[in-house]
Amino acid sequence: MTEVEVKLFDPQTARHSDFIAYHIFVNRIQAEMWPEDPPTELEETIRNLRATPPFVVRRRWVVWHDESIIAYGLASFWHTEDNQHLLWFDIAVLPEWRRRGWAKRLLKLIADIAQQERRRLLMTSTDSAIPAGEAFMRRLGARVGIISRTNQLDLSALKRELLQEWQERAPKAEFVLGLWEGPYPEEELDAVVRLREVMNTEPRDNLEIEDIKWTREQLRQIEASLAEQKTERWTIYVRAKKTGDLAGYTEVFWSAFEPETLYQGDTGVFPQYRGHGLGKWLKAAMLEKVLRDRPQVKRVRTGNANSNAPMLKINYELGFRPYKQWTTWQVELEKVLEYLK
Ligand SMILES: CC(C)(COP(=O)(O)OP(=O)(O)OC[C@H]1O[C@@H](n2cnc3c(N)ncnc32)[C@H](O)[C@@H]1OP(=O)(O)O)[C@@H](O)C(=O)NCCC(=O)NCCS
Repeated sequence: MTEVEVKLFDPQTARHSDFIAYHIFVNRIQAEMWPEDPPTELEETIRNLRATPPFVVRRRWVVWHDESIIAYGLASFWHTEDNQHLLWFDIAVLPEWRRRGWAKRLLKLIADIAQQERRRLLMTSTDSAIPAGEAFMRRLGARVGIISRTNQLDLSALKRELLQEWQERAPKAEFVLGLWEGPYPEEELDAVVRLREVMNTEPRDNLEIEDIKWTREQLRQIEASLAEQKTERWTIYVRAKKTGDLAGYTEVFWSAFEPETLYQGDTGVFPQYRGHGLGKWLKAAMLEKVLRDRPQVKRVRTGNANSNAPMLKINYELGFRPYKQWTTWQVELEKVLEYLK
């Protein structure tokens, strides 16, 4: 007789055969979401699962059908001073197992954690490649928090002349660029904590998220998590010469598991320094370094809110193009409990 059962999946105690089943499941979902991408490697899946920084709590359940995994649910929240009202979740069900109530069952487990942890607002995002995600969110009565896109730059379409132009035009008399290759230097951690605050100024549209206040300890935990994932981060920052203050930064992530794709992370310039071409200078300097030092990279991917006009202008001028759309949803725990009744 075949059996279906829901179980916790703990990456610290999972057996090798559990990881293999999880890996097969994840690659099926990935193929649906990113059909042009090659499958991930088993080692990458295991490292990603194990790389959770201690300030992040992730509770994961899988639905077993004999030896295979057919669905998973994730509840995640941060042990931080800010955003204590929030719980992030994710659910995915293999296409042939959809519309049989598995998402609903997994949502019940997620809602139990939200209740235990007193998190009143649940958030998740859905992908334009799988319309069922949106249908499920609408059924729950979730509200749209923000709509964003993955924008992608095919490096063969990069307008290289812009890199030179933007760097030549930069206000070099007042500002200077610097680079952190890999982890932030320990002696700069306080400055990095302040610098990363700039990302609290990016558009949030209707998202009910509070400003994120990073701490040195969280940054150290993130460094360890990146190392576990074998992911390298490069950061280029810009400093005001007169005061020594950091005015902005841009960061990219690269992993040997996915050598042809570079992930553009944050880019931010503090409001008082905007309008002087610092954003363009940062991005141009970074892309030039990528072309020089990572010749294997063929494309750069980034996520931008559709409402983020200044960032989109820079990206589209460089040659980034919309690749797919995401919707981030928010729904009160109360409403979820009502639905689950
Ligand atoms: C979204 C997803 C998780 C739904 O899984 P599922 O097991 O088919 O969902 P369920 O059978 O538990 O359905 C839950 C509710 O959503 C509704 N629903 C689900 N898919 C739907 C669809 N394609 N069209 C209309 N309604 C849908 C169901 O009718 C059900 O409502 P009900 O309780 O009134 O009967 C699944 O399609 C999936 O894995 N998508 C890819 C990942 C994703 O987008 N996840 C969403 C982020 S959490």
